[in-house]
Amino acid sequence: MKKIDVITIDGPSASGKGSLAKKISSQFDLDILDSGALYRLYAYFTDLKLDNDEIKQKISEEIKFELKNMNIEIIYKSKNISNDIRTEDIAKLASKLSSKEEVRQTLFSTQRNFYSSKGLVADGRDMGTVVFKDARLKIFLTASTKVRAKRRYLELQNRGQEVNMPDLIADIEKRDFNDSSRHLSPLFPADDAHVVDSSNMSAEEVFLHVKKLIEKEYY
Ligand code: DC
Repeated sequence: MKKIDVITIDGPSASGKGSLAKKISSQFDLDILDSGALYRLYAYFTDLKLDNDEIKQKISEEIKFELKNMNIEIIYKSKNISNDIRTEDIAKLASKLSSKEEVRQTLFSTQRNFYSSKGLVADGRDMGTVVFKDARLKIFLTASTKVRAKRRYLELQNRGQEVNMPDLIADIEKRDFNDSSRHLSPLFPADDAHVVDSSNMSAEEVFLHVKKLIEKEYY
């Protein structure tokens, strides 16, 4: 098998990018970048009233990403803040902040620094169109709004967070609109991306489909 450089996985909220990236990282022994977590961290620190320079310093020097039991844990000052950044309020603020040039520029180099000789699987909105636009294999993972809202509902419920479906559908639609219509790095599939609609596929079926694409590209 040839050496994998970067595999990008882009797509809207709750399309299953994170689960797919974790499976690929584990199966092919690649580093993993959850770029949405960086935008959420930016929002988390903005909420704590930090400015851009302070946030840049915190994210590059004081945050640790640990992969435990197929979960990416975000550690800040020895505390696991994964649940704190995975709320709907932080997601909304992250989506709003992600349209700002200063924010995208700050996070651009942080994201590029995740790449090492080990190879990387990177998930987000603009991995294949901007941050790793030379990647050989690009996936654009999508699913209907209803299916994505249901997945997010179960995920948040599992974390013990209170949610209701109509609010969740409205939030997802609003975030899709913001992410796709913003001027800078809007969400859209790269010309050379493989578009995968997972509305009627299980997570395992999506993984097996993408595994075949990886093997085709790299064997
Ligand atoms: O994937 P997520 O839901 O954790 O991402 C949170 C927000 O961050 C999302 O609404 C838009 C923004 N984001 C982005 O603009 N670019 C990325 N590469 C990843 C996330």
